[in-house]
Amino acid sequence: MAEKNQLDIANLRREYTQGGLRRKDLTDDPLVLFERWLEQAYEAKLADPTAMCVATVDSDGQPYQRIVLLKHYDKDGLIFYTNLSSRKAQHIAHNNKVSLLFPWYQLERQVCFLGEAEKLSPLKVIKYFQSRPKDSQIAAWVSRQSAKISARSLLENKFFELKQKFKNGEIPLPSFWGGYRVRFNSVEFWQGGTKRLHDRFLYQWQQDHWQIDRLAP
Ligand SMILES: Cc1cc2nc3c(=O)[nH]c(=O)nc-3n(C[C@H](O)[C@H](O)[C@H](O)COP(=O)(O)O)c2cc1C
Repeated sequence: MAEKNQLDIANLRREYTQGGLRRKDLTDDPLVLFERWLEQAYEAKLADPTAMCVATVDSDGQPYQRIVLLKHYDKDGLIFYTNLSSRKAQHIAHNNKVSLLFPWYQLERQVCFLGEAEKLSPLKVIKYFQSRPKDSQIAAWVSRQSAKISARSLLENKFFELKQKFKNGEIPLPSFWGGYRVRFNSVEFWQGGTKRLHDRFLYQWQQDHWQIDRLAP
């Protein structure tokens, strides 16, 4: 087989020029700044502006990461939905400390939350579940998320079987599907800067206020 030249990734880089993040730009509450950045990510038409990378650890301390979509946020935390038997759910049951990272490359930004995940009540979940497109509701029933399966056709067949079964009327919430609220105690904002002198600010919750520190890039 002919040798293919590898892409020269060591030399792939760009200057970050979209402007810095200064103390005067910060808000006392990190959620206010987060909301501003999220709106800007949406306005900039980034693909999946609400996509966040969730890190969990297994019982050996081995970290795992995967993308999920942020579906709600307020001062009590950030909410995402998933399968409650999935690998991530098993990790959270064992150790509920998680990290959530929003990678907004096109804006030369990232935001990282640290906190603890807690399961949402079925009452809260059902409202969101029923707001999803019907096919997504059926897909939630079909997939034993994170389990090994032998073929895609199993999913397709189950999907059509359930589509038929649920064709008239509401689709019930599967008992194994739900959501998590991540209560955060630390938020870090990163904005790329010129000459590789980036701006980082770390917010840490201290009893009754957010302490803000600048970190070296
Ligand atoms: C853009 C994008 C959005 C996703 N959104 C979700 C989501 O909201 N919930 C979810 O359970 N999985 C979502 N996934 C799939 C997860 O990344 C992951 O494959 C799945 O949750 C199983 O993870 P686990 O086996 O570590 O539990 C998304 C993947 C991508 C790429």
